[in-house]
Amino acid sequence: MFIYITRALPDVAAEMLARALPGARIELNPHDRNLNRAELIEAASGCDALLCTLADPLDATLIEDLGPQLKVIATCAVGYNNIDLQAAKNRGIAVCNTPGVLTDATAEVAVGLMLACARRFVEGDSLTRQGLFSGWAPLLHRGHGVYGKTVGIVGAGRIGKRVAATMKHGFGCRILYHSREDHVDWENELDAEKVELGELLARSDFVSLHCPLTPDTHHLLDADMLKLMKPTAVLVNTARGPVVDEQALVQALRERRIAAAGLDVYEGEPALAPGLSELPNVILLPHIGSATIETRDEMARMCARAAIAVLTGQEPPHRVA
Ligand code: GLV
Repeated sequence: MFIYITRALPDVAAEMLARALPGARIELNPHDRNLNRAELIEAASGCDALLCTLADPLDATLIEDLGPQLKVIATCAVGYNNIDLQAAKNRGIAVCNTPGVLTDATAEVAVGLMLACARRFVEGDSLTRQGLFSGWAPLLHRGHGVYGKTVGIVGAGRIGKRVAATMKHGFGCRILYHSREDHVDWENELDAEKVELGELLARSDFVSLHCPLTPDTHHLLDADMLKLMKPTAVLVNTARGPVVDEQALVQALRERRIAAAGLDVYEGEPALAPGLSELPNVILLPHIGSATIETRDEMARMCARAAIAVLTGQEPPHRVA
């Protein structure tokens, strides 16, 4: 049995695999970078299980090139837009993800970005380090407050709900949400109001994206949609980069048509749209939504559990295909 791990995970994954599948060949990408397509095929073809990340573009051709032995793809992520589920299904390959365990960690980053953008933490840090803080002053480095503001959540899944609850209960914010379905629990527990996307953008002081990337959500926030936002508003994206037209966002931030953006994900990740990193009113994080020690350990365990289940003839947990 051959198991390939495309990027170093917390050790617990390989330990669990070795314990549960004695004699299995477990190999790991030895580099501190993602493999390209040719390298991945060379290293992993013939594997029975692939433990991968959201940075591996597992399209139909690549899945086929990995060979007929492949029975399970366990991705160390909740989002699986990088995997062609239909191609996996057609070949009888189970695809499993890691939902639930990263809800709190990702919500922390979204809320942190809202506060940091509104109160301009990163600009303030830079000003202070540069020795430009010459003493308290009434007009120095003012931002926008957070308490009691309106927060618009796009996508009503677990992470969106945790962010909404934190902003409601922690900051007394009014919650708007945009989703295809009605969510009575949001309305009952958070007094949230379901609105169309345009209305959400026009009314919100903070817009936080929590929808999956699908053909329907690609460039959901394009140049026209960004124009609907308030000039004082903050946009936070901890979901997937291509949900926003990043070049249009650069333009909106440059012209101060919105106040700021906090980004953890990028359209051409890891590349940034031209001009983005030169803007003072954007905070740029390196896709760390789920990056806590506890969460990444649990994600590694979930990937190992999924592979072990399939390879021992059990139904795996958290199967998305
Ligand atoms: C992170 O972006 C994930 O999908 O888990």
